[in-house]
Amino acid sequence: MQMNIEDLTVTVAEGKKILDHFSLALAPGSIHVIMGPNGCGKSTLSKVLLAHPHYNIVSGDIIVDGNSILPLSTDARSRLGIFLCYQNPISVDGVTNSEFLRTALTETTQERINVYTFMKAMEKGIEELSMDPAMMHRFINQDFSGGERKKNEILQMKMLKPKFVILDELDSGLDVDSLRIVCQNVNQYKEENPDTTILLITHYPRILEYIHPDYVHVMRDGKLVEMGDLSLAQKIEKEGYLGTTSMGGEHHGE
Ligand SMILES: Nc1ncnc2c1ncn2[C@@H]1O[C@H](COP(=O)(O)OP(=O)(O)O)[C@@H](O)[C@H]1O
Ligand SMILES: [Mg+2]
Repeated sequence: MQMNIEDLTVTVAEGKKILDHFSLALAPGSIHVIMGPNGCGKSTLSKVLLAHPHYNIVSGDIIVDGNSILPLSTDARSRLGIFLCYQNPISVDGVTNSEFLRTALTETTQERINVYTFMKAMEKGIEELSMDPAMMHRFINQDFSGGERKKNEILQMKMLKPKFVILDELDSGLDVDSLRIVCQNVNQYKEENPDTTILLITHYPRILEYIHPDYVHVMRDGKLVEMGDLSLAQKIEKEGYLGTTSMGGEHHGE
């Protein structure tokens, strides 16, 4: 999937501008990281890509394989293969993980998957993520710890096989061992599905020890201000965001 985010300006209800002429081209199979300080608009970007209703698109476009996806609802974008691993996954009372995943799989593949095949695949995913097998039958994220919620998001990714994966602050809530396991699963997924695009959003560079990006972008005040490779992330780790190009600096996109 080729995604071009073109000159996107986004406000919230009160008219506050959160994304400001944001542009980024993401080629199939590439791994991009967006780094930036708290509140610069990273999670807003991830939610806007999935048509979150709180945000207004003032101008610009999101083009997927040549077509604007702005008219598409969240579920239509999901069926296209866009997947968001939330920064703070919500819980859903009354729907078990397995019911949810089987329904979502049926929706995305348009085929009712055989129960046995489905359970085997889910058990395998749960084992690879070192999750408690009982979680299959619990309500989605209900009383899950922060780290368990993140693992559950990655389980969904492994089962639903998206083409475009947005990982918003994947490391938040994960202890060192869980972070390693989760990143191993992401890397394995990428190896098995090399055309998958990954957009990794983080304010903390630690996760880049595990997931190696092709491009590192720095975001500030709703726009990209700098682009580089891993060395840019290393510079930020040492010097913080204050060392990056100041506001109004030009972003040399690809
Ligand atoms: N629905 C909303 N209503 C009002 N303000 C919002 C809303 N969503 C985000 N914001 C504000 O937009 C800014 C960017 O938020 P966010 O995208 O979550 O930042 P980040 O993920 O980079 O830390 C913040 O100042 C936040 O308070
Ligand atoms: Mg955020």
